[in-house]
Amino acid sequence: MSRRAFLLATGAVAGSAVLSACGSKGGDSAAPSGEVEVFSWWTEGAENAGLQALLADLQLNQPNITFVNRAVAGGAGGNAKAELAKRLDANNPPDSFQGHAGAELSDYIRAGKLEDLNALYDEQKWTDVFPEQLLPLISSDGKFYSVPVNIHRANMLWSNPKVLRAAGADPAPKTFEAFLGNLQKVKRAGGTVPLVVADSWTLKHLLETVMLATLGDQAWTALWSKGADWSAPEVRQALENFHQVLTYTNASSPAASWDEATTMVGSGKAAYQVMGDWAEGSFKVTQNLQTHTDYTWAPVPGTAGMFQFLSDSFTLPKGAKHRDAALAWLRECGSKTGQLGFNGAKGSIPTLTNLNSEDRALFGQYLKWSMDEWKRCRIVGSLAHGVVANNAWSTAIDGALDTFVKSRQVPPFQGALVAAARQHAV
Ligand code: GAL
Repeated sequence: MSRRAFLLATGAVAGSAVLSACGSKGGDSAAPSGEVEVFSWWTEGAENAGLQALLADLQLNQPNITFVNRAVAGGAGGNAKAELAKRLDANNPPDSFQGHAGAELSDYIRAGKLEDLNALYDEQKWTDVFPEQLLPLISSDGKFYSVPVNIHRANMLWSNPKVLRAAGADPAPKTFEAFLGNLQKVKRAGGTVPLVVADSWTLKHLLETVMLATLGDQAWTALWSKGADWSAPEVRQALENFHQVLTYTNASSPAASWDEATTMVGSGKAAYQVMGDWAEGSFKVTQNLQTHTDYTWAPVPGTAGMFQFLSDSFTLPKGAKHRDAALAWLRECGSKTGQLGFNGAKGSIPTLTNLNSEDRALFGQYLKWSMDEWKRCRIVGSLAHGVVANNAWSTAIDGALDTFVKSRQVPPFQGALVAAARQHAV
């Protein structure tokens, strides 16, 4: 089967362009065989479709490798990371595991859990093709520790145009204030959840986008440095805005998971959802809906021109039992054919800067737009997906947020965030 036929057959990509250039898989002439056990949290329909597209390409390139899928269900990896921590503590690592580029990966590096991948980076010449913004987030002291497979955008607003039209509301309000006005219209119209939320990390995801909308990109980024002023009035305003927006959500009886919430938007039970662009994978691949007719998107109001990003990457843990097979898997993660199939299905963009117009033509409308946005927007990191805060800091914020969602008291919430920054910023 040709590469193009393969990519189209997996349903991983859209469009009709011929895929001319293959990814370089160089240096794997030794053809490893046997199992490779890989840990991730990709179990939702489009997440799994992305993973399967990557695996199908791995199968073409490395037919002697058997992929052992150790995916643990639970959006944003909460459950997976807890299980992984137990295995790392017991010195029984999988052969490779998913980790977000940025502070989350730094935790694993600092704990001495990962092998450096410089030899692989040299072999594959990845520093020539991975985006320069990403390289510092997967490296430490000049050594690379993971292979990024995608770039996702967190600050996205997804909506159901039919529901909004019926309520006289706008799918793309420009400012936060306009967003509140539109939420009010949907609430008044009745019958739907204005802004749907799910389990606790989705509230943290909403919080980070409201903070970005209120503070702007520079002040948001500055918050994650040691000594930053979390007691500032601007932070207070951001938390007040979050407080207001929460009143339009189903936070008191949330959906079970991010994808159940996305399905509520698709089916018209909810009007808006703030979610990363894996939601596009759910609308298109899992729910089989039509862009702009059944669902549509815009940057979270007040964040146009900003791209709050995250990147999934895969590692080589020290003590991996099938090291050669793990290296072959990592080559696949960084390859062009692997990334084209994977990202088209999952709803993310490749980490490769050497895509040509034929590669680009394989992607749907949202992802083409997202590729352009990545180039023209100001890039900032995500909190809920591991870029800006280490695990201890992030967990302290979870605690503060949990209490706030119950109490709805902004001053103690801000106080807890000030304390968390003081204790955990590095
Ligand atoms: C993010 C992850 C994405 C997506 C999402 C929902 O943390 O980076 O790839 O899977 O969680 O599970």
